[in-house]
Amino acid sequence: MARKIIIDTDPGQDDAVAILLALASPELQVLGITCVAGNVPLKLTARNARVVCELAGRPEVKVFAGCDRPLERRLVTAEHVHGKTGLDGAELPEPSMPLQDAHAVDFLIETLRREPAGSVTLVPIGPLTNIATAMRRAPDIVPRIERIVLMGGAYFEVGNITPAAEFNIYVDPEAADRVFRSGAPITMLPLDVTHRALTTRPRVEAFRALPGRVGPAVAGWTDFFERFDKEKYGAQGAPLHDPCTIAWLLRPDLFTGREINVEIETEGRLTLGMTVADYWRVTDRKPNVTFIRDIDDAGFYALLTERLARL
Ligand code: BDR
Ligand code: CA
Repeated sequence: MARKIIIDTDPGQDDAVAILLALASPELQVLGITCVAGNVPLKLTARNARVVCELAGRPEVKVFAGCDRPLERRLVTAEHVHGKTGLDGAELPEPSMPLQDAHAVDFLIETLRREPAGSVTLVPIGPLTNIATAMRRAPDIVPRIERIVLMGGAYFEVGNITPAAEFNIYVDPEAADRVFRSGAPITMLPLDVTHRALTTRPRVEAFRALPGRVGPAVAGWTDFFERFDKEKYGAQGAPLHDPCTIAWLLRPDLFTGREINVEIETEGRLTLGMTVADYWRVTDRKPNVTFIRDIDDAGFYALLTERLARL
């Protein structure tokens, strides 16, 4: 039976690839896509998620708009990475599929209450505002979550938006703090692993060579955001962060990690949004996450290419 997931997202080119990978994979049933403000404002993330569903030929997927700003802070966006629309790099039509009427947070709560306990996995790949809001409003949903598989944080790689913090956590550290303390099982895919999932010319050209519209769109997006990471890190390509979450669900054997405690810095003058990871277990704080550290990147790109080819 397919594993039921809800993708909580702020597309973003790498979010878009994560959505495509999930929609291409029969092992997963996407119950809905909940959008949050992050890489770009909510209006655009809710648009972009629908652009991506239509690109995948899946206009029936339910897309919900959620929180338009972090719990307690002003929204920080990342147009410098993702471009003005969040999906710069491929020319795609405006979506005609509808946005659902319900608020994303209500959808999360209702779905977790309706589905059998322990049967729904949440996949947050943007700031954690929607998830934290749902947990705050309906604490009864927390023990019903099968697992949270999120992209966010960093330890050895430290930060990408500030020297100490990764973007998704930095944008809404109070939300992240609530989620990390919630007690729900969490698999965390931090920069430490996503920075090992780098594009290369042959990998991007393999996307571009796929028949249909999906491969060339993915290649166009990757070309667009590659320029930023190449300049910043002097790397050969760019990390495809968010699809690592879906790949972990499909092929956990491509990844390695360990159970550790991770807490979120919500006050630090220089370290706001840092994911303080007790990787070496120097405290007696209880492990609350499976912290993924390594990836078989060749296996990851082979999986991604094979799945995108199905769309
Ligand atoms: C994360 O931030 C966003 O820019 C990406 O979509 C990804 O979710 C990486 O730090
Ligand atoms: Ca994202």
